[in-house]
Amino acid sequence: MVLNITCIPGDGIGPEIVAQAKKVLDKVGEKYGHEMKYTDILMGGASIDACGEPLTDEAIETAKAADAVLMGSIGGNTSTSPWYKLPPEKRPEAGLLKIRKALNLFANLRPAYLYQELAAACPLKEEISKAGFDMLIMRELTGGLYFGERKTIEENGELKAVDTLTYSESEIRRIAIKGFEIARKRRKKVTSVDKANVLDSSRLWRKVVNEVALDYPDVTVEHMLVDNCAMQLVKDPAQFDVILTENMFGDILSDEASMVTGSIGMLSSASLNDSKFGLYEPSHGSAPDIAGQNIANPIATILSAAMMLRYSFDLDKEADAIEGAVRQVLKDGYRTIDIYSEGMNKVSCSEMGDLLCDRI
Ligand code: IPM
Ligand code: MG
Repeated sequence: MVLNITCIPGDGIGPEIVAQAKKVLDKVGEKYGHEMKYTDILMGGASIDACGEPLTDEAIETAKAADAVLMGSIGGNTSTSPWYKLPPEKRPEAGLLKIRKALNLFANLRPAYLYQELAAACPLKEEISKAGFDMLIMRELTGGLYFGERKTIEENGELKAVDTLTYSESEIRRIAIKGFEIARKRRKKVTSVDKANVLDSSRLWRKVVNEVALDYPDVTVEHMLVDNCAMQLVKDPAQFDVILTENMFGDILSDEASMVTGSIGMLSSASLNDSKFGLYEPSHGSAPDIAGQNIANPIATILSAAMMLRYSFDLDKEADAIEGAVRQVLKDGYRTIDIYSEGMNKVSCSEMGDLLCDRI
C-alpha cells in the first residue's frame, strides 16, 4: 500500500520528533511492504518566518491532497518570541486553528493512559494510581468558543470583549456518534461532560447526547458537570473510559488528564473528520527550551503515527507493532530525560527512534 502523508515538522522540538516518527514509519513500511510518501509543509512560526503567515492556502491544499497529516508541534516562547508580537490571527496557533477548520477536523481524540513502567511519575497518591487508568478524551474541535463570533469594542468609555459559545444539534450529534462508536471498541462507557446547570449550549449538548445514546444500548452513558469532572480526574481517574465534551472543556480537561499520567511526552492524539482523513500530533507542545538538543521524547509523535496507521489506513497490525515496540522499549529500561528515573538507561531522541526501530 502507498501511504501519502503530509508532514508538519513545525517549531521547537517538532522537526526532531517528526524525523524519528518518519524513521519508525519507514521501518514499518519495510517490514510490512508499504511505501511511505512524505510531503512536508510549513505551519506555525516556521511558516511565519518563511511566508509571513502561519499557514498558507497552498499548504492547506497540499494537506488536503494527502491521505493523512502527521504533525510535530508549533509555537514558541510566548514571552520572548517575536511571533507573539504579531496580531492574534498571525501568530503560530492561528495556523493550527485554521487547518482544523479547513480540513473539518471536528473530532479530537486524546488518550491518557498510565503506563505501569512509568507509574512512579504519576503525581497522584499510590492508593489512587495503583488502580491504573486508561481514558480517551473525545473533544469537539471546530465549534464552541474557539470559532464563535468574537469582538472587542468600546462601550461607556471602557473596553468590552465578547466571545460566543454556539453549538448546533448537528455539530453535537456528529461528535457524540464518534464518542459512542469508539466507546464500543473500548470499555463501553461514555461520560459526557458539560455545564448544564448554567449554559444553554450544555443543555442542548445533554439532550442530543441522550438521543444518540438510544442507538447504543450496549454503551453506558453518564453526564458529569465539568467542574466535578476536573475533581474526579484526580480523585478517581480509573472511573473514566470515554470522556465526551465540547471544545474548551476538552482543551482544559485533556491537559489535566495528561498531567495526571505524569508523562505527557508519551501521549498521542488524532483529529478526524467524517472520512478516514486525520491530523495526528503529540499532545505536548513545542518545548522551545530544549529544541535542537536531541533530548526530546519522540514517543508521543511515534504513537500518533501509530494512531494514523490505525484510523486513516486501517493498518491495525502495523499500529500494534509500533505500540508493542514502545511497551518493549520501556520494559527494556530505556528512557528519554523527561521520563528518566534512577537505574534506567538514559537515551537521546534519535537513540529512542533507533531502539524503537529495532523492536518493530
Ligand atoms: C491544544 C492547544 C491549542 C488549543 C492551542 C495551541 C490553540 O492548547 O491543541 O490543546 O487550545 O486547542
Ligand atoms: Mg490545549
